[in-house]
Amino acid sequence: MFKLKVLSEPDVVPTSQVPDDFPLSYSPAKSQASVLADGFGRVHNYLRISLVERCNLRCSYCMPEDGLDWTPPEKLLTDQEIIRLARLFVEQGVTKIRLTGGEPLLRSGIEKIAEELGSLPRLQTLAMTTNALLLKRKLYALRAAGVNLINVSLDTLQPDRFKAITRRDGLELVVAAIESALRMGYSPLKVNCVVMRGVNEDELVDFVEFTCDRPVEVRFIEFMPFDGNRWNEDKLVPYDEMLRVIRRVYPIEALHNGRNETAKLYKVPGFLGQVGFITSMTDHFCEGCNRLRITADGHLKVCLFGRSEVNLRRVMRSGASDQDLLELIHTAVSRKHARHAGMHLIAASKNRPMITIGG
Ligand code: 5AD
Ligand code: SF4
Repeated sequence: MFKLKVLSEPDVVPTSQVPDDFPLSYSPAKSQASVLADGFGRVHNYLRISLVERCNLRCSYCMPEDGLDWTPPEKLLTDQEIIRLARLFVEQGVTKIRLTGGEPLLRSGIEKIAEELGSLPRLQTLAMTTNALLLKRKLYALRAAGVNLINVSLDTLQPDRFKAITRRDGLELVVAAIESALRMGYSPLKVNCVVMRGVNEDELVDFVEFTCDRPVEVRFIEFMPFDGNRWNEDKLVPYDEMLRVIRRVYPIEALHNGRNETAKLYKVPGFLGQVGFITSMTDHFCEGCNRLRITADGHLKVCLFGRSEVNLRRVMRSGASDQDLLELIHTAVSRKHARHAGMHLIAASKNRPMITIGG
């Protein structure tokens, strides 16, 4: 039987105050905090769900060069399982869900899944991270379904380089999709740019200029180590270096940051858009972390860089009740570490390839 765990936070209902016949659907704000709260006072209200492992690009920093053993389809979450988990998490206080991949738009029936999630009461943000190759033709349906925030992965503005990084053509399609999404009112539209030395670090200023007359937020992401992506510290361009390079050309000014904001935000005065830096390697933001992840094969990951996972798919398929699932989820969340182990240990330890986590 599911029991509320008593944590040290003052705003958690002590078990003694919970009636014996405490029904699952009874979820006042205080009890919500307990299931998705960890031992460090962090309450998790942001869930990232990977819909599919596969991708129509082959970005070197994400996908192992030697390929992958794809998970067989029967081990991937079904639509109904995804919707069940999403509903449970939203009932426990999640207000933002992001759909990721691989490439989420490769999931057949994505519009239907988005529609179901978009109609969950109390969900405020339904976001998606996509490489945008298929985005243009799906935009209307996604918006109608309730997708209200889009991040596009784009690491270069040069066609040849796009091909070198992603091992496919497509820059024009991506930029066209960004323009369409902007016209459709997605604002700010976020652009994720993984900065790698010797690959694209000479485009920092070009990307800043991309924000001049578009309401986009370009997010420069420090290159992170994942299995099979040949990370090494020399390829990492630290945040302070990126800032110096940009400041030689543009006087970017810092903006105010929210508590759970992973990006340090800046803006060139007068530009329509803004830029952000995601400094997971040189200045982590673990103390404000509010995220949980579900992989396409149904594992709950409480930390992007941690190896520990809970197989929710197996538990669901063995007939677990919602209470059983909540108990398991709470146990996993309550064991979350205070912070990640640091880039060198992360690089040396085993995790999944990024493509199977979803960013
Ligand atoms: N380092 C940093 N960001 C990464 N992403 C994927 N792999 C890495 C990595 N090694 C991010 C990209 C992409 C999203 C799916 O995940 O920004 O937009
Ligand atoms: Fe595909 Fe995105 Fe990974 Fe590139 S970063 S291979 S687009 S999932």
